[in-house]
Amino acid sequence: MRVFITGATGLIGSHLVDALVERGDRPVALTRDASRIPSHWHGKVDVVTGDPQTEGKWMESLCLCDAVVNLAGEPVAGRRWNARVKAEIEGSRVESTALIALAIRGSDPHPQIFISASASGYYGNQPWEKELTEAHPPGEDYLAVVCRRWESASSLGTLDGLVRKVNVRISIVLDAERGALARMLTPFKLGLGGPIGNGSQPFPWIHIDDMAGIILWALDNPQVRGPLNACAPQAVTSRTFATTLGKVLNRPAFFPIPGFVLKLRFGEGAAVLLSGQRMVPAQAQALGYSFRYPELGPALQNLLDRKKIPEADLNRLNREPSKKGQPG
Ligand SMILES: NC(=O)c1ccc[n+]([C@@H]2O[C@H](COP(=O)([O-])OP(=O)(O)OC[C@H]3O[C@@H](n4cnc5c(N)ncnc54)[C@H](OP(=O)(O)O)[C@@H]3O)[C@@H](O)[C@H]2O)c1
Repeated sequence: MRVFITGATGLIGSHLVDALVERGDRPVALTRDASRIPSHWHGKVDVVTGDPQTEGKWMESLCLCDAVVNLAGEPVAGRRWNARVKAEIEGSRVESTALIALAIRGSDPHPQIFISASASGYYGNQPWEKELTEAHPPGEDYLAVVCRRWESASSLGTLDGLVRKVNVRISIVLDAERGALARMLTPFKLGLGGPIGNGSQPFPWIHIDDMAGIILWALDNPQVRGPLNACAPQAVTSRTFATTLGKVLNRPAFFPIPGFVLKLRFGEGAAVLLSGQRMVPAQAQALGYSFRYPELGPALQNLLDRKKIPEADLNRLNREPSKKGQPG
């Protein structure tokens, strides 16, 4: 399968590209900056340079593919949402998704599958008591409105019926090198970690392997369509997340990050850290996606063990002499 991927250089995109290569598919990676392409992709991945917000030659490459996975998006977390940032957040999602939908609609032949990212923020800020399947209506705060427009853009030109379309409502993706968990590791390792705000808000999460896995599964499984919650089955609050991470790292995790500090620092942008959704992966479970990491403790343990591998390798190499009798 030739799979066109926007946002291919990002956290999710790069894992997806590697997973596609590993199983013998041909990814076509769109980037605005070819220097971001990792060297191990050479010869295995077709690279197209272009901006998904602007019409360009990338649209022709997209139309020659069997499937499109749309993951482009300006970072949302850890920023003040001034007018410029909001325009970037929206443009990189809504406008690029609309252009992709129109490109698919306007070409013949065209990709048969369109998987487009959305986020748990679609549901707005919701209390722990509320379990959210894909049937739940959208929220009304800023991110919820962006997600609703993002999802609507994927249907532009009435794509429904023409392609199999999936809107993946992505929760917080856990990876030890990039993203939310990677940013938390230093304070937690120093024993300065803790819950965000009062800690009672849901913290929807998914291991990076399951994130890539669920997209592959959605590509392969013709029954999967429409909104798809991408989160692990075990729901936790921000406090449980912090205590579990503290346990796995063997560090205390008592220091909360007060909400007012985040609001002073990020203004409206603090919402992404202080709000949460108790999502349920209803479609994935109903159609039989098998989670590799359904529970948080083992997921975190696995990610942190992986991070240790290079160190362990280094120690082993330092201990073992090379074949020539020199240190390895
Ligand atoms: N990771 C999460 O926890 C999470 C949670 C919920 C939703 N999501 C959504 O899932 C998608 C992928 O997430 P991710 O974590 O892989 O994101 P990421 O690591 O930040 O990567 C996003 C990619 O999008 C492209 N991009 C960034 N700004 C852009 C802009 N202004 N215009 C066009 N392209 C732009 C970049 O590619 P180039 O620079 O190579 O062009 C970048 O590699 C995003 O839309 C994100 O909002 C992620």
